[in-house]
Amino acid sequence: MATSRKLTPDGTSDKLFDACAAEKKITDGLAAVFEEAGYRQVRTPGLEFLSVFASSASYFPPEEMYKLSDNKGRLVAVRPDSTIAIARLTATKLKGAALPLRIYYAQSVYRRQPEHRGRDSEVMQMGVELIGEAGFSADVDMVGLAIRSLSAVYGGRFRIEIGHVGLYKKLMERLGAGAETQGRIYRYVTSKNYSALEDVLVDAGDRETAGLLLRLPGLFGGAEALGEAAALFDGYDEDITEMLGYLARVMDALAARGYADSVMIDLGLVNQAEYYSSLVFKGYGESAGEPLLSGGRYDELFCDFGERMPATGFGMNIDLLAEVHLCCPFFHYPIERAEKRQAPLGGEGAGAGAATDGAARILGGDAYVGGLGGGGLENNGKYARPLRVALTKGRLEKDFMALMEASGYDMDPLRGKGRKLLIGIPGPGGAEDGALEIFLAKAPDVVTYVEQGVCEIGIVGKDTLLEHGGTYYEILDMGLGKCRFALAAPSGGPVAGGAAPRAVASKYPQYAGRYFERLGLDVNIIRIDGSVEIAPLLGLADSIVDIVETGTTLRENGLEVVRYIRDISARLIVNVTGMKLRKAEVEALASRLAEGRG
Ligand code: PRP
Repeated sequence: MATSRKLTPDGTSDKLFDACAAEKKITDGLAAVFEEAGYRQVRTPGLEFLSVFASSASYFPPEEMYKLSDNKGRLVAVRPDSTIAIARLTATKLKGAALPLRIYYAQSVYRRQPEHRGRDSEVMQMGVELIGEAGFSADVDMVGLAIRSLSAVYGGRFRIEIGHVGLYKKLMERLGAGAETQGRIYRYVTSKNYSALEDVLVDAGDRETAGLLLRLPGLFGGAEALGEAAALFDGYDEDITEMLGYLARVMDALAARGYADSVMIDLGLVNQAEYYSSLVFKGYGESAGEPLLSGGRYDELFCDFGERMPATGFGMNIDLLAEVHLCCPFFHYPIERAEKRQAPLGGEGAGAGAATDGAARILGGDAYVGGLGGGGLENNGKYARPLRVALTKGRLEKDFMALMEASGYDMDPLRGKGRKLLIGIPGPGGAEDGALEIFLAKAPDVVTYVEQGVCEIGIVGKDTLLEHGGTYYEILDMGLGKCRFALAAPSGGPVAGGAAPRAVASKYPQYAGRYFERLGLDVNIIRIDGSVEIAPLLGLADSIVDIVETGTTLRENGLEVVRYIRDISARLIVNVTGMKLRKAEVEALASRLAEGRG
């Protein structure tokens, strides 16, 4: 019997009883919120013609879509997105219907995910679309509905972040990069792969714009983030100044509705920039490493279907919500509360009251029943466990311990850890405040742990970040583990003499590939996982791209540096949600380390 008969494809899974029950509670809870706000349900087919998703405005990387052919041999895609399908439906079946249309959906989307990154290819989503209403108050109402929806089904602390995709678009316009480079920049910005982004922008002619693009991801927080952005963009572009003013007004209006504690600014948000046009937002919750909710205004999308209609909406990741619901028992609380709720939510005003009530109780923490394994809050509203740090094993370990000691931490528990894997470190001077949990991991695993949100912080070399990319904030150059990326080749050989390399061995095939692509050289990259210096000696390659620290390994193996490519050092990276929800703790640690570094 074929083994595959007993398996499900990568990125898919069977959902058993508890998972289905949790999903039902959440979808029922959300349907009640959506219907009370006047939204009605539709369902679009699981298969659509590929052209629905492949037009210029509704960009999806073709490699992410599952494609097959219908009975007439025409190409169809397994639904990768619901908003585009609903735009098609509105422009056809609902053409001429009275506006605005309030539509909601509950259906799965399917997107191929990179292998072994722990992401699902099939995701159950539920969301709303408000079609035919433009303007400020529709934008504010939509963010308000997002907050009420999360309040109804998510018991933990959450934040909605708002941004303006126009900033990114404007910067790209000013940068004037070619289509291929633009595609790469977009990919790196959407995946928050800032190491690779930095790499692409190295050659950008407009240094000011390249610098501003790199600053975008760091511009998040409260009103101060808008102030910082206003100063940064002052005199750069009037449209951007206007966009920042718009965001300030949205923040004020949300604060006036009692949502001040639930919203933040994030100017690095670009969502799916190809179809979002202005305001965008995402919802993050504690205990969930990935966004729970994502949405924004997409006024241009309908042009693809021959219509002009303003629209805004959001989608929620039901699988993720159900997962959190199952692993954190107290998360049942808000759903049960929503079920018992006497007064209907009604319009925005009534909803705001109910959400504020829910948010106040959640943020105040009095609803919580104790510490949570997964990183929840204790009764007093503090996190149940200290910040968790993944430290790269090997070379960095010793240097990192010395830096921690210089920053006031007692690292003896890590030194004497024996076979224990997760080590508690008290705060500076033995205090409870600033305590950490540290574990050791291989460099690429540090990135995976941080991306997935099982730890907030990673200490890892820039070489690994450049090679593996990923979604995280890189907030501190720790000044440790300094070395350089270099192209090296046998002394006296053709490459050392100036010939273009043809076959390059490297532990960093992605990075090396990008480097030669930038130079316009067609090079065969051979991936080697260690002791790469031996490859030219054995004739496997004519050169290597590797890190060089003292240069001893090269010298002892008859190789020499042909060209230094870039400096490398250890960085402190932070999970995206962790950075948003535990900003003060993360920043306190970073500034202690920066001080210790001197
Ligand atoms: C790195 C690198 C070089 C060596 C350079 O390897 O890949 O081999 O260090 O250091 P040097 O310039 O001071 O001689 P690492 O020690 O990490 O081992 P590996 O090759 O087994 O990965």
